[in-house]
Amino acid sequence: MPFVILHRKAVAAYLKMKQKLFPWLDRVFRDTDRKHIRRTKNIRLIPAYPDRRGGKLSYAEWAHVIGIFQTLLYQELTKKTGANILDIGCGTGLLGISSEPFVGDGGSYTGIDVMKEDIEFCKSHYSFQNYHFVHFDLANPTYAGSQSPELKPWPVSSGSQDMVTALSVWTHLSEKDAIFYFDEIARVLRKGGKAIITFFILDEVYESSLSRRSKAPGRYHNTNQVDWIFNKSAYQSKNWFTTPFAHHPEDAIGVTRAGLDMLLKSSGLSLTQFYQGNWKENPGVFFQDVLILKKD
Ligand SMILES: C[S@@+](CC[C@H](N)C(=O)[O-])C[C@H]1O[C@@H](n2cnc3c(N)ncnc32)[C@H](O)[C@@H]1O
Repeated sequence: MPFVILHRKAVAAYLKMKQKLFPWLDRVFRDTDRKHIRRTKNIRLIPAYPDRRGGKLSYAEWAHVIGIFQTLLYQELTKKTGANILDIGCGTGLLGISSEPFVGDGGSYTGIDVMKEDIEFCKSHYSFQNYHFVHFDLANPTYAGSQSPELKPWPVSSGSQDMVTALSVWTHLSEKDAIFYFDEIARVLRKGGKAIITFFILDEVYESSLSRRSKAPGRYHNTNQVDWIFNKSAYQSKNWFTTPFAHHPEDAIGVTRAGLDMLLKSSGLSLTQFYQGNWKENPGVFFQDVLILKKD
């Protein structure tokens, strides 16, 4: 057999072995690493590789993103402890870990998600008494295609929450769902309450970054880089767009500035801070755009 073919086969076998090895290495690393965590106790809760979802698989990336949102929560919460935090699309609990220092004994963290499996995981993994996890029977073509298509309010009392969070959730909602559930944020927040919601906002920064949006090899090792180009209307919407790689529009949703203005107008929430995301190939706080909203 020619050397080149042998070499290719050896490389393919090595890569396959590395993939298989990763869950095992992760388990050994996490167990060892936990013993060395001195100052950031809550990150001991980071799940094992098979249970890290939400588009972030690496342990390091979970720890990094937990820290970003822990900082934002600290900045935005008026009550630094005993806060009631509602996390929409909680996945396997990344923001539950960021929220832990602020919930304390008097507060609560409620994670809601359409994925039954993730909610079952959260119930077994986060055993605090004031942590609640709710499976929400609503269809999302990407995550829970066969559930009920009927939009209904969250099972949460009006005016009961200090904070609503949604990390990478409105980036998976159609226009209809996005509007309905943005109004829900306003309903469940108390007066003066805040929300931290991430988006792909298609604004002038996005437009001006399009020329830099080609794959940039060599800058980082082993990048799985995707070109985030939202050029296909999602369900004939004028303001909600998806990408050419999406099988369902909900796989990746970007919203125009006019779409965001519609959400703000309909809900009555005010936009108090806009952190541009680094997905637009600009330095940013987080990958997606992070919007801070307030109920006046
Ligand atoms: C990209 S994941 C993010 C998960 C988690 N927030 C994180 O960052 O690790 C999107 C999550 O939103 C959930 N989701 C999608 N549509 C939803 C809806 N209408 N209501 C609640 N959760 C939803 C999905 O099931 C999925 O867990």
